[in-house]
Parts: sequence; C-alpha cells; structure tokens
Amino acid sequence: MYRTLIQPALFALDPETAHNTMRGLASVANLPAVCRMARKIYHVSDPRLAVSVAGIDFENPIGLAAGFDKNAELLGLWTALGFGHIELGTVTAQAQPGNTRPRIFRLARDRALINRMGFPSQGADAFARHLASTRAKIPHLPPLGINIGKSKVVELDMALDDYRYSFVKLAPLADYVTVNVSSPNTPNLRQLQDRERLSELLSALNSCNQWNRPIFLKVAPDLTPSALEEVVQCCIDNSIAGIIATNTTLGREGLTTPISEAGGLSGAPITAKSLEVVRFLGTAIKGRLALIGVGGIFRGEDVLAMLAAGASMVQVYTGLIYEGPGLIRALNRYLIRFMDTHGCRSLSEAATAWSDIRRVA
Ligand code: FNR
Repeated sequence: MYRTLIQPALFALDPETAHNTMRGLASVANLPAVCRMARKIYHVSDPRLAVSVAGIDFENPIGLAAGFDKNAELLGLWTALGFGHIELGTVTAQAQPGNTRPRIFRLARDRALINRMGFPSQGADAFARHLASTRAKIPHLPPLGINIGKSKVVELDMALDDYRYSFVKLAPLADYVTVNVSSPNTPNLRQLQDRERLSELLSALNSCNQWNRPIFLKVAPDLTPSALEEVVQCCIDNSIAGIIATNTTLGREGLTTPISEAGGLSGAPITAKSLEVVRFLGTAIKGRLALIGVGGIFRGEDVLAMLAAGASMVQVYTGLIYEGPGLIRALNRYLIRFMDTHGCRSLSEAATAWSDIRRVA
C-alpha cells in the first residue's frame, strides 16, 4: 500500500513538505490504541535477532538513523514499526532554524536524497524538557540514542563547550550519545574529525560523563584510510564505545540524476561506499570498539553485508522513504529466514555464514 498509494502522493510534494505531512499523519501513532495495533502488524520477535552492544541490549539490529526525528516527536511510531533502537537528533546546544528551504532534494531514479538541513534544532534545553516528559509514556520503547552536534553560530575553537553543554543536558535521558562531527552541512564541522581536535573533544566529553553513558562517534564516508585509522586510535585512546559509519557523502559518484545542489548524498548511491568504510573500520578496530553500519540499506542482503563487514547493528534513513514503514519488518524477517535456512543461532553466526557464501561465490 505504501508503494502504490502513499509514496506517489508524498512524492508529488516537495520533499520537506512530504516529510512534515508524514510526520503529522504519523503522530497519531503516538496514541496508545494506534501503537498497539501497529505493533501487532510490524513487530518481529525472535531471540536470534537480539544483540548486545556497549553493554546495551537491543531486541533486533535495525535502528533509526539520526536526522529523521530531530525533536523526539514520533517515539510511538518508531517503537510500533519495530525498530531495535532509535537515534534522535541531531540536537544542538542552541536553538537554531537550520538552512533556508529548499534543503532536501529527492533523486527518485537513484533512490537517493541530497540534504543540507544544517541541524534545525529546538536546542538542548527544550529537547531535554520534551523528552523527559514523553519517553516514559511509550510502552516497549527500545534503547534511545541522542545525537549531538555543534551550534552553527559557535566558532570551531569554542566547540568543546557547546558539545559539553548538550552532553550534560541530554546524556541522562539517553541510553547512548552520538557525537556528530561528520555532517557536511555545518561549516567546518568535519574539521573536528582531525586527530587533535577530536581527541580534545572526546576527552572533554568523557570527563563530564558521570553517568557512564556509552559514547559513539559518527564519521563521514569521505575520510581517507589514514584519517579513519587516526579516528579509530583516537576513539580507543579516549575509551569511546564505538563508531557509527557513515553519515552522508559530499561525493556524487554513481548518480544518474543531473543535479548540482549542495549537501550530503544518501541512499542507494552510498551503499557500497558506506560498506567499504565499515569493512575498513572493522579490520582496523579488531574488536576493540563497537561498529554500527549505516548508508544505503534497503534490503536484507545490505544488512548481512554490514554485519559480515564488522558491524553489530545497522541504521536506516533513506531506505525508509523509498520502501515505507514495512522496511524494518522486512529486514528482520529476511534475517530470520536466512538464519533458518543456514542453521544460525545468532546474528554473528549469520554474518559468518554470509561471508562464507560470498567467498565461495
Ligand atoms: C541525515 N543524516 C543525519 N545524520 C546525523 O548524524 N544527524 C542529522 O541530523 C542527520 N540529518 C539527516 C537529514 C536527512 C534529510 C538525511 C537524508 C540524512 C544522515 C543519516 O543519519 C545517515 O547517516 C545517512 O543518510 C546515510 O544513511 P541512509 O540515509 O543512506 O540510510
């Protein structure tokens, strides 16, 4: 129904209007009766899907990537759709409007999006107040991550205080916190991935982490192998729990749509690139950090490829726009079918079986 009825109607609108319309419609899913009904349709349960990452137990490995629910408005919907975790944000310390519209572009032929949202955010204080009053009302809520970024007006040299402010406000409300230094849409933000600045930032956040919340770092797919190695070392030196790879890319390889809009590209054109980064990180990490794979996941095979490359879990964003609300159920069901067929008792056995099959092929 999503592909034949809802998607064509939404795709007739400008992407951000479609997004907001969907958000409006989806907010009914926060009503308890609707939640219960949707959960019956979408929830997939199998103990073999469970995974433990950074000391947190997840019912399944499919998470919502940051950016979709910047203000924690749709917790009921994400829970009902069967996500194993929900990453909220990016939240900035200061309230800010983000870039001017249009700032999302749909590339339907390429099953991709370009966005230059620029972190529209209600600010850490308002976000914390809202989340504190709503999260307890959602039954079966999966683990929540909160993704934090730099306020646009804050100079790079003052970024530490800005991140620290958001961290202290939001970490008590989160199961984990993601430090976003990889959005291409906040000027100079990606410079925080440089070794010295990154080390200072991670160490500053660690020293105010009295709640011992696992901290994840989200990286860009455009880093060179040596920069990725430095990031890994920095994360290990600063006791970071794991890396989320990847954010959107500035590259435009593989696009068939003629478009010259600035912003980060996501969806099918980045599937291979994100997977390559995850594979590289998986090798460099050698089990010392957790790894979450994100980028162009549309099919069960994409999930297995990420798990086989070293990720423990995955996240989706653009796939949800193109495939609709049944995507999470479809991905989890695919994993169950694969484990049934290959006699796997866990996702890690499934990842090994997948690697073996690919090696033979
Ligand atoms: C994003 N993404 C993103 N990431 C992040 O860390 N903070 C954010 O605020 C946003 N905002 C955002 C908005 C839009 C419109 C898109 C399409 C993406 C990046 C997202 O979380 C993910 O890392 C990439 O989109 C790659 O995954 P997909 O979309 O290919 O599944």
